[in-house]
Amino acid sequence: MEAKTSKVSIVGAGAVGATLAYAGLMRGFARTVALYDINKAKVEAEALDLAQGVQFMPEATVLGSDDVSVVEGSDVVVITAGAKQQPGQSRMDLAGATIGLMDKVIPPLIEAAPNAIYILVTNPVDVVTYAALKKSGMDPARMFGSGTVLDSSRLRHQIAAECDVAIGNVHAYVAGEHGDTEVPLWSSATIGGLPLSEWKGRDGEVVMTDEVRERIHHDVMRSAYTIIEGKGATNYAIGAAGARIVEAVMGDQRRVLPVSTLIDYPGVGEVCMSLPAVVGRNGVEHQVEVPVSATERAALEASARSIRETAQRFGA
Ligand code: 2OP
Repeated sequence: MEAKTSKVSIVGAGAVGATLAYAGLMRGFARTVALYDINKAKVEAEALDLAQGVQFMPEATVLGSDDVSVVEGSDVVVITAGAKQQPGQSRMDLAGATIGLMDKVIPPLIEAAPNAIYILVTNPVDVVTYAALKKSGMDPARMFGSGTVLDSSRLRHQIAAECDVAIGNVHAYVAGEHGDTEVPLWSSATIGGLPLSEWKGRDGEVVMTDEVRERIHHDVMRSAYTIIEGKGATNYAIGAAGARIVEAVMGDQRRVLPVSTLIDYPGVGEVCMSLPAVVGRNGVEHQVEVPVSATERAALEASARSIRETAQRFGA
């Protein structure tokens, strides 16, 4: 009998899909990495380019095809295919186009890889994840979105720079929508066990004043717009974030990650949005009950409402 090896498939060989594959291969997240895209020339070229770098990475086989059967036997399928956000467009502006695309793309994938865990990266990720869950009938633990894992890394990057400390020692989450209504959870943020609000700079003054927090929130929320203005798309940070989520599943790491999952939000109803959750081999293992302030709670509810309204407007 052929030995079962680990396999991750990535749907969409655009900038995000290819970078996610590259980041994952560098970290050795699976023995086989398959790229699937309807553009045959592009997907074969990306797979060849990646495969030719494997000598410098952990051992892996890279496949690329425009035939959906390439995803067969996957442990994880990551979906990055979707409409491209243009300068000035919000993620929510892509809802109509991407929900329609997912209706076509997802059923054949589930038929080819019925036992895989599905991670959606396509924007607007919360609405797309909700629509995909409702239409596929998949177990919500096994189909979820990349959510605010990226926004949280953006937040940590800004906090680390502001507080002059290593990013690995900053614990802070962005929750809610991966988009304009996202909510930084300031009240639970810490550096080395110290509440962020108490962190002092070299001058002995508290660093994270209301003004600094507002500026950071704005910059984090606008990051994608800024990057899209400058280079047309975002790919490195989302590629690294996506690879980290896949790795948490493949390695059963039980990492706390703010992925977008199905929630029955009190007073709002069913919605997919991000809250910190434990991610392991079964997908979303369980939600973490992070304490939130009254302001954060109100902002999370507004975020949930905004996602739900867009989902309803597009019949999800
Ligand atoms: C990002 O935040 C556009 O959702 C993508 O980088």
